[in-house]
Amino acid sequence: MAILSVSAVRKAFRGLRALDGVSFEVADGEILGVIGPNGAGKTTLFTVLAGGLPLDSGRVVLDGHDITGMPAHRVARAGLVRTFQLMRPFASMSVLDNVDIAAMTHVRSRREARSRAAEVVARVGLDEWRNVRAGTLPAAGLKRLELARALATRPRVLLLDEVLAGLVPAEREPVLELLAGLRERDGLTLVFVEHIMPAVMRLSDRVLVLDQGAVLACGAPAEVTADPRVVEAYLGEEPC
Ligand SMILES: Nc1ncnc2c1ncn2[C@@H]1O[C@H](COP(=O)(O)OP(=O)(O)OP(=O)(O)O)[C@@H](O)[C@H]1O
Ligand SMILES: [Mg+2]
Repeated sequence: MAILSVSAVRKAFRGLRALDGVSFEVADGEILGVIGPNGAGKTTLFTVLAGGLPLDSGRVVLDGHDITGMPAHRVARAGLVRTFQLMRPFASMSVLDNVDIAAMTHVRSRREARSRAAEVVARVGLDEWRNVRAGTLPAAGLKRLELARALATRPRVLLLDEVLAGLVPAEREPVLELLAGLRERDGLTLVFVEHIMPAVMRLSDRVLVLDQGAVLACGAPAEVTADPRVVEAYLGEEPC
């Protein structure tokens, strides 16, 4: 059963077709990797799905509910939230307060928000950093904070935009484990955009390839990365 169903989504920016009829489904509990060259429309896809920008046409259904055209706060309340490729935390506020603000929009009381924030800060491994100003966090900490802010809304589907970018290889492994745990322990469905191919291969159940705003391929990771069209569009020609 699909938890997320995306049908013929189009979005243009002044004539530039950033999304040109994108359709795919994500099963409940699945991890879908999204790859494609720079400018393929990956971030635009997340923005549109999460209600950050209106789409021109198409349909988005989350767990049987039509969320097409809903603004971000309603999409989040319906259970879908995205993280940002470019993170913008409130730099002068503490890590915990940053997460608290995200939680506030989704719970009824201050106390509930505080407790939810504390829970997800610990979940992402930022407990020791909870009282430091967010602006002082190193890149890996900022990534975790971004994840915590998304988790604070208790999503069922999480869209992750280049969560590993800017991390050195040694920092990637624990984040990958954290993501795998979000599916295993918390039952989340993940859709993640990533350029780091070993991570895509390891984490994804299936991989979706976007190219020039359209789906170029979708399937098992090994199958998709062996597809000559994908190699040509994104992975580069193999040297002979
Ligand atoms: N707000 C905007 N206004 C105008 N054009 C935009 C806007 N956002 C994205 N674009 C354009 O839409 C296309 C798709 O951009 P998008 O950011 O979705 O690509 P991407 O696949 O995420 O690339 P990257 O791998 O570099 O992050 C690009 O040509 C980009 O310049
Ligand atoms: Mg992008």
